[in-house]
Amino acid sequence: MVRSEGDTWDLASSVGATATSVAASRALASRGPNPPIHDPYAAELVRAVGIDYCIRVADGAVDFDDDPLFDGDTMRDQIVVRTRYFDDFLTESVARGIRQVVVLASGLDTRAYRMDWPAGTVVFEIDQPAVIEFKTRVLDVLGAAPGCERRTVALDLREDWPAALRAAGFDPAAPTAWIAEGLLIYLPPDAQDRLLDNVTALSAPGSRLATEHMDSRAFTGDWARKLTERGRRHGSDIDLTKLFYSDERTAARDHLAGRGWQIDIRTTEQAYTANGFAPPADELLSMIGDSGYLTAELSAPPS
Ligand SMILES: C[S@@+](CC[C@H](N)C(=O)[O-])C[C@H]1O[C@@H](n2cnc3c(N)ncnc32)[C@H](O)[C@@H]1O
Repeated sequence: MVRSEGDTWDLASSVGATATSVAASRALASRGPNPPIHDPYAAELVRAVGIDYCIRVADGAVDFDDDPLFDGDTMRDQIVVRTRYFDDFLTESVARGIRQVVVLASGLDTRAYRMDWPAGTVVFEIDQPAVIEFKTRVLDVLGAAPGCERRTVALDLREDWPAALRAAGFDPAAPTAWIAEGLLIYLPPDAQDRLLDNVTALSAPGSRLATEHMDSRAFTGDWARKLTERGRRHGSDIDLTKLFYSDERTAARDHLAGRGWQIDIRTTEQAYTANGFAPPADELLSMIGDSGYLTAELSAPPS
């Protein structure tokens, strides 16, 4: 199925299946004694969705080691680096006193449940209705309880989500920590621009945003095809070439910088090194260019 305006999905189909696949990687990296990350709900969520390949990944039953694109260690390091980046961003945000968090495209993200939140923190999660409904229900059945006030906003991010967010109690006068993890590549370029404009319009001084930084090589090259072929070699039928929007787009860095945000980029290589991991192979790095992670901040007024 190719993408279209207004397309919908659940966690076993289309873009929704990518959320399950990422959760499977988190489950894999959470296994064993002293795991490098700890997502206690990822494996059960993946099992509940029921995609066979993802369950096998979560169970550590897929051998990626001889894969010519990248091996199991690189794959584990990638999800560890990514998870820690966004975890650390949120931990630092609440340490600065921010008490309003918005997780854009929350998928099977369990941060509202698994992170320590100061009293009074409100975490909003936005994703398509079937995604929000499924995760909420499964975590409820598992007896998981959010450690914050979790509010869900079930609608498409190409629609008027700011109105829905406000209706759910979002306060645009309060500084906000936003995360958009694994989202931008699934939005058409103009929808990405609109999303960032909406985030800007809703952000009081002192707000922060973390997302991926994508070098144009990462989405206009044959990255989607190579990742899809790698998945196929191990039994996945997720076709990223049909899910990514690979058109040229304004980099989030440039779009946000033009709207008054201060930008800090951590390249993939820097992020691996900061976590004590060997950087990925040169071939992989040359495909993703200087992609990595981005934190943007709107200055707080002088106190
Ligand atoms: C790769 S998953 C990432 C999920 C989560 N942020 C994580 O990192 O585990 C992509 C997510 O983006 C969501 N998404 C993509 N496009 C969306 C849209 N237009 N509206 C709402 N959600 C969207 C999907 O439903 C899915 O949950």
